[in-house]
Amino acid sequence: MSEIHLLSNKNTDQDFASLMINDSEVDKKPNGKSIVLAIESSCDETAVAVVQGGSKVLSSEIASQTEMHKIYGGVVPEIASRKHIEVVEGLTSVALQNAGISRNDIDAVAVTFAPGLIGALLVGLNYAKGIALSLNVPLIPVHHIRAHIASNYLVHEGLKPPFIGLVASGGHTLLLAVDDYTEYRVIGSTRDDAAGEAFDKAARALGFGYPGGSVLDKLSSDGSFDAYPLPRAKVDGNPYDMSFSGLKTAIINLIHNSKQKGIEIDIPGLAASICMAVSDTIVPRAVAACKEYNYSKLCVAGGVSANSVLRSELYRQTTEANIELFVPPISLCGDNAAMIGSQAYFEWMSGNIADMGLNAFATLPADYDHQFISK
Ligand code: KG4
Ligand code: ZN
Repeated sequence: MSEIHLLSNKNTDQDFASLMINDSEVDKKPNGKSIVLAIESSCDETAVAVVQGGSKVLSSEIASQTEMHKIYGGVVPEIASRKHIEVVEGLTSVALQNAGISRNDIDAVAVTFAPGLIGALLVGLNYAKGIALSLNVPLIPVHHIRAHIASNYLVHEGLKPPFIGLVASGGHTLLLAVDDYTEYRVIGSTRDDAAGEAFDKAARALGFGYPGGSVLDKLSSDGSFDAYPLPRAKVDGNPYDMSFSGLKTAIINLIHNSKQKGIEIDIPGLAASICMAVSDTIVPRAVAACKEYNYSKLCVAGGVSANSVLRSELYRQTTEANIELFVPPISLCGDNAAMIGSQAYFEWMSGNIADMGLNAFATLPADYDHQFISK
């Protein structure tokens, strides 16, 4: 039997509750029939899914809070945590019901433990611990960025590492060398804002509310890509690092100056120019990384990967460079728990399970060492 510790303030052995989990459960490895209950609560979506064998989604439920945060123009962490608490139990019941299984059919519980809003992460993490403990099944910690990449395994049968991964979301923009399902190497990332932040701040300044990426995407179809000359930042040092804060500031200044001078903004043109500026910052780097590091596949994920301009530029430039491109369907680009269930299968296969001492991390690189989090 392995001992499971609960965290306490004093951190002494006497303070730890001696909760036990059966070693035979901990040592078990998954197979194609293994059923994982997956929980995601890193930002403003509570999501619960039931995934079998890493790729068969039996159910996937999402309770989005975006309407709640809209009036503040962005995610309010305290509200996010409270909403996760309110819905996670009910959403789990719905996920189990829609999957046609009972709690006793669950073979493992997976949860996003990093990165994200710490209070929001802790809600899902503690809820997952409770279920894993009560059912005496393994607890699998899943990194949110790895899971975004794994959304591709759900739809592209036969897709396997190695490949270059590109994740563009509201909180992250990074390029990764994925050598195996749990072997990641960060090769470039944004030095400041994420691509999604540039979209969200631009949309907010234009009065479209939060989140703004999909609104600007739709508007861009009627605009010209060179309506406005927006910057494409280059950063010193690593050629695969990116920066979006200059773009964000340029867009906001342009909107304010136009308003002050009474100049009408060509909104579709600005939306199209923003989409192309983001795409020009990301796509050539992703293609160059595939070439330089000798990978023949590019696997894209994250909320911003829903962007139609980015997708068509990715398609065009990877075709030209003879690189195989994998993108998830729009429904799997944003946060969901099916992707957590998929990555969990591979983490479990690698023996990356956790005990009840598992903590949440607001920041943690995708190439973290499992030994570090299991200490
Ligand atoms: O992956 P995600 O759902 O959450 C994070 O992990 O951050 O990404 C959310 C981000 C938001 O910034 C949102 O504006 C952006 O993805 N987004 C888009 C589109 N759909 C969502 N950005 C550009 N074009 C879209 N179609
Ligand atoms: Zn995400």
